[in-house]
Amino acid sequence: MKNISLTFLFILGLYSCESTQMVSVEDWGYLPDGQQVQLYTLKNQTGMQVKISNYGGIITHMTSPDRHGAFADVVLGYDNLAGYLKSSPYFGAVVGRFANRIKEGKFTLNDSTYTLAVNNAPNHLHGGLKGLDKALWKTEIVSTNVPSIKLHYVSPDGEEGYPGKLNLYVTYTLNHQNQLKIDYYAETDQTTHINLSNHTYFNLNLANGNILQHELTLHSDSILAVDKTLIPKGSMSVTNTPFDFKAPKKIGERIKDTSHEQIVFGGGYDHCYIIKPQKSELKSVGSVIERFSGRKMEVLTTEPAVQLYTGNFLDGSIIGKGRKKYDKNMGFCLETQHYPDSPNQPIFPSTLLIPGKPYSSTTIYSFKAI
Ligand code: GLA
Repeated sequence: MKNISLTFLFILGLYSCESTQMVSVEDWGYLPDGQQVQLYTLKNQTGMQVKISNYGGIITHMTSPDRHGAFADVVLGYDNLAGYLKSSPYFGAVVGRFANRIKEGKFTLNDSTYTLAVNNAPNHLHGGLKGLDKALWKTEIVSTNVPSIKLHYVSPDGEEGYPGKLNLYVTYTLNHQNQLKIDYYAETDQTTHINLSNHTYFNLNLANGNILQHELTLHSDSILAVDKTLIPKGSMSVTNTPFDFKAPKKIGERIKDTSHEQIVFGGGYDHCYIIKPQKSELKSVGSVIERFSGRKMEVLTTEPAVQLYTGNFLDGSIIGKGRKKYDKNMGFCLETQHYPDSPNQPIFPSTLLIPGKPYSSTTIYSFKAI
């Protein structure tokens, strides 16, 4: 009898030990106001790991296997919290309340005009001076078998100039098929606008330099052409332009084709591709392959668009993880989202958030080796 119960306790011990390893948490430093920040590690059965901070919901590390099964970190960022606090071009962060730009930081709702920070002159970018990327989120572990954590932040009415008190939830789940799923949820007590995204910069083979040799496929016929301040001015077919990624193409193939005005305005790719999934359907946006390592990442979303940003503003002034200098094009972002400047462009899919009608969306970053 004693033996049986000891065996039972031993098995239980092994099980709980293994399951606690699937999500672990460590203290990661302090905000200037003294609040403690944490770093969560999600680990699946294949050995893939994703590290997420409750500061900004930032994904600081994400590993993916190459064709020999070797895991490497595939996202840009800093080694420690101090780096993110000093200055960050949104590395890995949740962006909002409104991801991307709002023209001149103004919109009108029910006859009231709202004024937001002009933090990317002459426009408003990624939620303002203290967007969701700089919020400290309350975090709970949802599951350890399939590692999952849920972040919660209450954004007070008027924060960064936006109307309405918001309850925001972002859930990160790493399944055993090497897919990181991000579920966004928001509810408001007053009509407002919402556009949530994640701003992870990927590089599927950092040891090999920038992302210009990565092969990109995007299942999209059109982008939103922008003015020189990157505000959309209408849709543009990608056919016969440097923007055509309907079939796989190296990101670098036409990124410097300055005979195309849109490449000049973006300093490369910094454009919103129209995806148009059916209502709440999870649709493949496209994929990226890095041939030397054999790493492949596919992106799926319920959002109607994705911003392709090729790290055009990186200029070597940032020294990131492992003392790596982040030069231009060192990473790419595929930021699933609604169209930029939607509050001022009524023909775009609506970004209105209304009391009693919560917003939700899902994006998946899925990895495999080929
Ligand atoms: C987004 C924008 C870019 C740039 C980066 C942050 O992707 O579209 O223009 O502002 O964020 O540097």
